Parts: sequence; C-alpha cells; structure tokens
Amino acid sequence: MAMVCLSDFEAYAKKYLPKIAWDFFAAGADDCSTRDENILAYKRIRFRPRMLRDVSVMDIRTKLLGTEISFPVGIAPTGFHQLAWPDGEKSTARAAKAMNTCYITSTYSTCTLEEISAAAPGGLRWFQLYIHRNRAVSQHLVQRAEALGFQGLVLTADLPYTGKRRDDVRNGFRLPPHMKLKNLEGAFEVCKMSPLDPSVTWNDIYWLRSLTHLPIIIKGILTKEDAELAVRHGVQGIIVSNHGGRQLDGGPATIDALVEVVEAVQGRVEVYLDGGIRKGSDVLKALALGAKCVFIGRPALWGLAYKGEEGLQDVLRILRDEFRLSMALAG
Ligand code: FNR
Repeated sequence: MAMVCLSDFEAYAKKYLPKIAWDFFAAGADDCSTRDENILAYKRIRFRPRMLRDVSVMDIRTKLLGTEISFPVGIAPTGFHQLAWPDGEKSTARAAKAMNTCYITSTYSTCTLEEISAAAPGGLRWFQLYIHRNRAVSQHLVQRAEALGFQGLVLTADLPYTGKRRDDVRNGFRLPPHMKLKNLEGAFEVCKMSPLDPSVTWNDIYWLRSLTHLPIIIKGILTKEDAELAVRHGVQGIIVSNHGGRQLDGGPATIDALVEVVEAVQGRVEVYLDGGIRKGSDVLKALALGAKCVFIGRPALWGLAYKGEEGLQDVLRILRDEFRLSMALAG
C-alpha cells in the first residue's frame, strides 16, 4: 500500500488496530463536534497566494524556545503508545530525534522517562504534566524529567476531569494488563477518585516554578483572557489546544481560537497549536495565523501503528514535504 498522505495512515490504523485501541485514539467528547470542527475549520480558510517570488531556496527550520528544529511540526503528548506499537514511546522518541523535531512526552506513557531518554539520547523532548492530587508524585516527575534532560515542562490545563468519550465507555476501555503507566507505578493509592487534581488554579504555576528551572508551557488555552493570564503568570509558551476535541465538546476549533490568542499575547511568549493538523497546508495556515509551530496527536499514533518509528518518520516526512510545497506554491 502506497502511503501518500496522512489519511492513508489513518485508514491503515483503523483497519489493523484492535477496535478498542482505535476507538480510544479516535475518540472525541460527547458527539465529537469539536473534534470534527478542528478539521473542518481548516477547509474554510483560503490562501491569498502570491506569484513570481523566487521560491528556489526555502528555509523551513524554526526554533522552540531557542532550540532549533528542522521544520515546524512536533509531536503532541498522547498516552499509551504501546497500544499502537510494542516499543511504544521509545519508538516515538527515536522518530522525533531522527527527524530533528520536538516530542512532548505524556505523563501517561507506557515506557519510563528513563527508557525514553535512553532510546534517543540528545533528542529534544518536553515533559507533559498532569498535576496529581498527591503533589509529591507530580513534584517527583517534574524533577525526574529535568534531571533526564527534558527541556520544557508542558502543563496540560484542560483536564480537571476526563471528558466523556462514549466509545470508551461502551468498550469499557482500560489498558491491557501487560501495559502499565510506567511513570506512575506505585503512585496510585487504591481509591475510587481520579488521581488528577481538579482544584488546580493559576497559582499552581508559581508552585511549578518553585520546583524547576525548566521553561513552562501551558497547553489547552483557547481564549484571549486565559492567554493574558498565562503571560502574567510567567509561562514561556502557550499551546492553543482543545485536547483534540476530547474534553469540552462545543468549544472552538483550535485554528479559530488561535487568532485571538496571538493578538492577546503580542509576541510576549511563543504560541503553538495542536488539533486537526492533517496536511502541510494546515501547518502553513496555522503559521500564517501566528503559530510558531504545530503539534500532531493522532497522526503520530497512526504512524506508529503502521510501522513504529519508521511509520512515524514517514508521517513527519510527508507533513514536512507537503508544508514546504505549500509554502512554495503560496509564494
Ligand atoms: C491525547 N492528548 C493528550 N494531551 C495531553 O496533554 N496529555 C495526554 O496524555 C494526552 N493523551 C492523548 C491521547 C490520545 C489518544 C489523543 C488523541 C490525544 C491530546 C493531544 O496532546 C493533542 O492535544 C491532540 O491529540 C491534538 O489533536 P489531533 O492532532 O489528534 O487532531
């Protein structure tokens, strides 16, 4: 099967992954209107292409908080990569390093942070944190990530509780017994409550700041009000995100929310975006509207499901080449 575009990887993953894993990756909240809107919104945005501008030489590199990456597409944090490929997050780390881009590693990884670091030494990685009720658990994770050479701390702000994903409820989704949340082993007490802390507020940024020297990037911002608060609380970056439409259903597409965030921030911190990126021209639209870089969630999982690190590299390469071509054709 020739893999030409990201939809080919999606079709492959849908066909070959166990249904329960496919459903978990694909899920949006409620009736998935925000998940789907993330994609539809790109189709409504049109370029105003310019001609005869000498596009024989193009530079698609960019910098994330001072560190250069080869092209403006990184890997968003997603959990449970072993559901897609046996080597899980180790393969993700290798692919990101091979393509010289940033991999945001989820709290909910099925490999340890140590295994992930050892799999791709020197690769650019940020660590994504969910704050736990047991703050010592979160503190330990942050400090472990920093000691291992992770270069940024991404605080996910949009998950005080997990959104209602209907297929996961129907399937009774849970990790197969041989897979573990490796970074949290021993951290869960036997209790009925979610271990995540729904009482987190902006003040907790100061708490995080006291734990680490890493730059803090806040993920899940969708409004100018929260963008302003993020800047005021001293974060270094904002990821405009709605968690791939898996949390609050009915919120805006991220590409639609981007403009107000960029306008509010006025260049004071870097602004990135995730959600619905499926083509190189989507990347170009996000950059044209002010994002410094975009991140992919589900497409990375499809790449892993296809052929592990090789498959993920294929996905990244296709996006990079499509992005470069769109840039040239748009002048
Ligand atoms: C996610 N996302 C996510 N975000 C996060 O901060 N921590 C996490 O552990 C996860 N886990 C996760 C699992 C799966 C299966 C998906 C699909 C998503 C959200 C993710 O980082 C990102 O915001 C979206 O996936 C972006 O949308 P696209 O690229 O999937 O359309």
